[in-house]
Amino acid sequence: GGLFGPGGRFSGSVDPVMEKFNASISFDKRMWEEDINGSITYARALVQMGVVTKEESEELIKGLNLVKAEWGDGSFVLKDSDEDIHTANERRLTELIGPLGGKLHTGRSRNDQVATDTRLYVVKMERAIVGHLLDLLSAGCKLAGETKEILCPGYTHLQPAQPIRFGHWIMSHMSPIVRDIERLIELIPRANQCPLGCGALAGNAFSVDREFLASDLGFEGVLPNSLDAVCDRDFVVEFLFWHSLLLSHLSQFAEDVIIMNLKKEVIISDAYATGSSLMPQKKNPDALELLRGKAGMALGRAVGFTATLKGLPRAYNKDLQEDKKTLFESIDTTLDCVQIAAGVIGTMKVDSEKVGAGLCMEMLATDLADYLVRKGVPFRETHHISGAVVRLAEETGTNIGSLTLEQLQAVDGRFEEDVMKVWNYEQSVERKNSTGGTSLKSVEDQIVKVETFIEKI
Ligand code: ARG
Repeated sequence: GGLFGPGGRFSGSVDPVMEKFNASISFDKRMWEEDINGSITYARALVQMGVVTKEESEELIKGLNLVKAEWGDGSFVLKDSDEDIHTANERRLTELIGPLGGKLHTGRSRNDQVATDTRLYVVKMERAIVGHLLDLLSAGCKLAGETKEILCPGYTHLQPAQPIRFGHWIMSHMSPIVRDIERLIELIPRANQCPLGCGALAGNAFSVDREFLASDLGFEGVLPNSLDAVCDRDFVVEFLFWHSLLLSHLSQFAEDVIIMNLKKEVIISDAYATGSSLMPQKKNPDALELLRGKAGMALGRAVGFTATLKGLPRAYNKDLQEDKKTLFESIDTTLDCVQIAAGVIGTMKVDSEKVGAGLCMEMLATDLADYLVRKGVPFRETHHISGAVVRLAEETGTNIGSLTLEQLQAVDGRFEEDVMKVWNYEQSVERKNSTGGTSLKSVEDQIVKVETFIEKI
């Protein structure tokens, strides 16, 4: 048993399995810095509260900085009795500065302490993730710029649909990332609220100045209710659902690239592929399959932790300790996925010939219908006529672009000589020149918009 284990109230010893079951040190030790920073701020407040003298406060802070230095240089030695990062740090502080260390926790509880640490950590990591997402966007914009001239098939239902620009496809995967960044930034002010000074549940009995605690720690404000402050994990849930949506987006991107890679339209860098232990010819797009695969567990973590919360009575319950493993896994996975996706995008080669080979004249059937629309025929009619042309080509074992003018006119007399100009992928793409379309200008505009977004953040 550690600091808060068998103490005054306890006599029997704890089942060793219980000790392991109860401990969170193996995973919450990553919050060592946030924990010590929270304590340093609290030690400052203790003077204002009249609990310690100025000198004692300085002693406490000096000791806390020593503990921090040990974590920093890797010399901090954990003991079996260290239940979590809070007890470990306080134990070490007291070893270093003596009984004065026992004054630090006056009026504070691990309940407000852990909520404070976790919020500080989440905010730090959310900001770091934004940075990596911006790198991903930059890589996407660069590739889109390099490939904006390349025409490729666009699909619906995985069926060839209409020609598009390769850069347009890339930018289609950047738009959701822009929204994901906006969403992530919106989470930060809600997470960045201070629970410290709420005690175990009822508040602080020594009139702590919570506004001081908040500003000293860089929080944007204080949580207004002590019961809520110690048990609110909305900020964890928000991150979990946020990351599950981001990973779904990266998964969709990965699936597209897996298919293109299969057709050798894009070549994944060796840095993101692996070979087979048996088949020498293999180069598998593992990075992409993992990107696709991670999204499933991400959603599982979000749903799982929300289920953990749903029946909890006010206020702190040990169930809440389950937040951290889930959260840390989600943060780590997010950082990995974003960097891998950026790396894949930054290194993949596009084979314009192979990509172009995927185009087929049937993808211009809509353009054929539009040709007659421009001659005044209602679209519902032209859709039908173009469909009949597709059927004729199929029946005669050719493609619609190879039919003669006479064959076309046999379907509809309004086809004229200039219909042959329809069979041009470039022109088809260039006609899609309104905002968000796949014309060169429109794709360039999309890239500029995202680049401006990156600069403004
Ligand atoms: N390790 C605990 C957690 O992660 C810290 C809070 C413990 N509080 C308590 N009353 N047992 O939630």
